[in-house]
Amino acid sequence: MINKAVIPAAGLGTRFLPATKAQPKEMLPIIDTPTIQFVVQEAVDSGIEDILIISGKGKRAIEDHFDRNAELEARLEEDDKNGLFNEIRHLAEMANIHYIRQKEINGLGDAIYYARFHTGNEPFAVLLGDTIIDSVMPVTQQLIDAYAQYRSSIVAVERVPKDKVSRYGIVGGKKISDTILDISEFVEKPGINEAPSDLAIAGRYILTPDIYKALENTPRGKNNEIQLTDALMYQTKREPVMASIIEGVRYDIGNKMDYLKTIVEYGLKRKEFCDPFSEFLRKKIKELDK
Ligand code: UTP
Repeated sequence: MINKAVIPAAGLGTRFLPATKAQPKEMLPIIDTPTIQFVVQEAVDSGIEDILIISGKGKRAIEDHFDRNAELEARLEEDDKNGLFNEIRHLAEMANIHYIRQKEINGLGDAIYYARFHTGNEPFAVLLGDTIIDSVMPVTQQLIDAYAQYRSSIVAVERVPKDKVSRYGIVGGKKISDTILDISEFVEKPGINEAPSDLAIAGRYILTPDIYKALENTPRGKNNEIQLTDALMYQTKREPVMASIIEGVRYDIGNKMDYLKTIVEYGLKRKEFCDPFSEFLRKKIKELDK
């Protein structure tokens, strides 16, 4: 039903400079795995094998990462001390990945508009290339399940503390069930008293093909860029757009503090690091508490 995913990854990553001056933010590693590899894996785990990455200037490392590297493979095949041969080989085979370059960085809405010839008349998933969501069921799968019921564009949202709403894009609307809201408004970074809810947009979407018409009718907004939320607002005025409250924890890698937290969380999850890393953290906390 949802066969294609679009991963926007062309942004400049200005919040993560200087690291992102000459390397894609989407390649920032969580220990040894680039962020975008988790994102591609989420799409694949949700049954999607056709993936379009919106790429751009300075993003070649993403293409190289999901391509074969004959020299490296030959070396690992000869001497695979760490059992990495299969893992490296698998990267080029995990999905059918296509690329298109966003020629000017004109915002997330503009990036998605580049996908129109690839997705055509089909609904498709969007996964931000700089956002990882740790969950039992992949969040894209959660959205696909919701799409099967509502057949409309669906925005993944997560609850955030009320005093932090001003950091996020917040949705408001009518509650349809415990996890679904019929959206009537999108508010970018509202003040605590203006926020219509505590539900923040979480970087995953299912979009119906009408979004392209909405994008064509969306003028430049915040930062003089074409904003996806403005196009969704246009869509909301003409047809239902739902929010699905996801189960999972979101990490926005493009934000330095979230990146740091992600490394700690994923470090603790890894069998080989869990014990020594916990010991290190406990020692650090004791030092801080002194
Ligand atoms: P962000 O707004 O977080 O990315 O976009 P950014 O603009 O690169 O970040 P800062 O604010 O300058 O630090 C979320 C995702 O959308 C992509 C980004 O690459 C990121 O994965 N994006 C954003 C595009 O593909 N094109 C754009 O014009 C903007």
